[in-house]
Amino acid sequence: MNSKSKHWDGVFLNNSDSKLGWYEKNASQTFKLLDLIPHYKDATIFLPGAGTSVLIDALLSIGAKLVLNDISNEALDRVKIRLGEIQRDIIWLHQDIASPIENLNEKVDIWIDRAVLHFLTDKDDICGYFENVKSALKIGGYIIFAEFTHSGTKKCAGLPIHHYSLDDLSNNLGPSFTLKSHFDYTYHTPSGNPRLYIYALYKRES
Ligand SMILES: C[S@@+](CC[C@H](N)C(=O)[O-])C[C@H]1O[C@@H](n2cnc3c(N)ncnc32)[C@H](O)[C@@H]1O
Repeated sequence: MNSKSKHWDGVFLNNSDSKLGWYEKNASQTFKLLDLIPHYKDATIFLPGAGTSVLIDALLSIGAKLVLNDISNEALDRVKIRLGEIQRDIIWLHQDIASPIENLNEKVDIWIDRAVLHFLTDKDDICGYFENVKSALKIGGYIIFAEFTHSGTKKCAGLPIHHYSLDDLSNNLGPSFTLKSHFDYTYHTPSGNPRLYIYALYKRES
């Protein structure tokens, strides 16, 4: 956890939000899938690597309850300052999402991963991540992924990437999840480089 945390703290310390290679002005791509989930505005939503994403503010503004995790305290602290008073209602977790989730007392309705899973390159870490999905997400709950596809970049934030196809995501989730929707999306970094993402929405059926 320490070397990973230090790496990510350094990334956030050395870059303003709008310079980050995954910065979005708005979370419209994620909302294309969120809008397919019934009653998502009343949901408890878990972000496994929240970073400093504007998705956080957008979800709070629609009244969702949030559990925000990140391996970087620097990122979490930046969001706490940005949100001011309203950050009181959030559950904050600071852990490696490949390790069993601690301090989460209730299961969540929705898990949203934009650009977190693809940084786990070790097989055991990937298994640990999907164990967490299964222990934290309610039956009937939903999961949204936005990950680099196989034709995507080999490195991001100075780290190697594990790429995902739709089949890879489905195989890791197993038969208790059904695919509800998906699309490819080319994101452009602040410096103009294209990054190919696969977006996918699954429902946990059992
Ligand atoms: C590329 S950024 C994406 C942030 C955010 N999801 C977004 O879309 O803006 C990856 C985020 O995941 C966090 N992260 C990386 N590895 C992690 C891990 N193993 N456990 C938890 N968080 C992690 C990083 O600190 C960073 O905030």
